[in-house]
Amino acid sequence: MSVDIDAAVAILRRGGLVAFPTETVYGLGADARQPSAARRIFTVKARPSEHPLIVHIADASTMPEWAASVPSSAAALADAFWPGPLTVVVPRHPQVSTVVTGGRDTIGLRVPSHPMALALLGAFGGGIAAPSANRFGRVSPTTATHVRDDLGADVDLVLDGGPCTVGVESTIVDCTVDPPMILRLGGVPVEDVERVLGRAVQPATGPSRAPGMMASHYAPTCAVELAPMRSAARARCDELVRTGHQVDVLDPGPDAVAFANGLYGWLRSADDRGLDVLIVIAPPDEGLGAAVNERLRKASAPRPS
Ligand code: TXA
Ligand code: MG
Repeated sequence: MSVDIDAAVAILRRGGLVAFPTETVYGLGADARQPSAARRIFTVKARPSEHPLIVHIADASTMPEWAASVPSSAAALADAFWPGPLTVVVPRHPQVSTVVTGGRDTIGLRVPSHPMALALLGAFGGGIAAPSANRFGRVSPTTATHVRDDLGADVDLVLDGGPCTVGVESTIVDCTVDPPMILRLGGVPVEDVERVLGRAVQPATGPSRAPGMMASHYAPTCAVELAPMRSAARARCDELVRTGHQVDVLDPGPDAVAFANGLYGWLRSADDRGLDVLIVIAPPDEGLGAAVNERLRKASAPRPS
């Protein structure tokens, strides 16, 4: 593993791109201090330049290098959940390139918990700007194979750390507003965020929600339909099969942690199997289930034609 980490560090230092595992999804990383390297991320992902990148750091002590100030809510959340699947949005340090922050005066920071991500960050010694390692608008990768399938030779190195254990992206909390606002549901349930803050957060509906969180994100090529229960799913499946469609029903059960873990792999395999429609029975809308349901709503939303 250390040979791979050494190679990854050398690539990052010379402005290259390294895909690496995190506990949420695989990231497509570049040295956050090199604007030209960060620009390559946008090119490779075909991502609009105003969509900011999260900067991954080795531990909370380096936050002041990236943040002009650290609001007490951000400090409390970092203390409670890092390393882990939570991103705090804080005021941007003036030395951080606006290429990384999509032109914003704020920056998203996160300490991931995957051992290989921490080894990479430790050896690199700086911040790694990284979005999910998929082409823009596609389902996020949760294995190294997903990354290679999506990005191929456009990435200089893919570190393989096995399947991601959480399986959905980090929860993003905007700590520049009061009360803090959830910009994206993710690996840390909102209930846990509110418990640590000791108060309610603003829901993810305001105008400042994370850019890039549009409907039709997280969508496979096949159509996704949500069914409230098994009987409805079976009836809909029969109807579609009768009219000549390739259909399957995804019914992982009520365990939202397992659902989140498998979700993106199942969406990808629906495409690999050539399905026209995947009917999904959603988990209860609490804990990680809320993040899963948000992805499912987007996957099943009407698509731009
Ligand atoms: O779990 C994750 O967060 C993964 C892993 C690789 O860390 N990363 C990830 O990055 O999901 P990405 O770029 O696919 O999604 C990050 C989201 C985008 O919707 C972006 O607009 C939002 O975070 N974001 C980043 N910085 C922001 C900021 N300063 N203000 C508002 N939204 C921000
Ligand atoms: Mg993404």
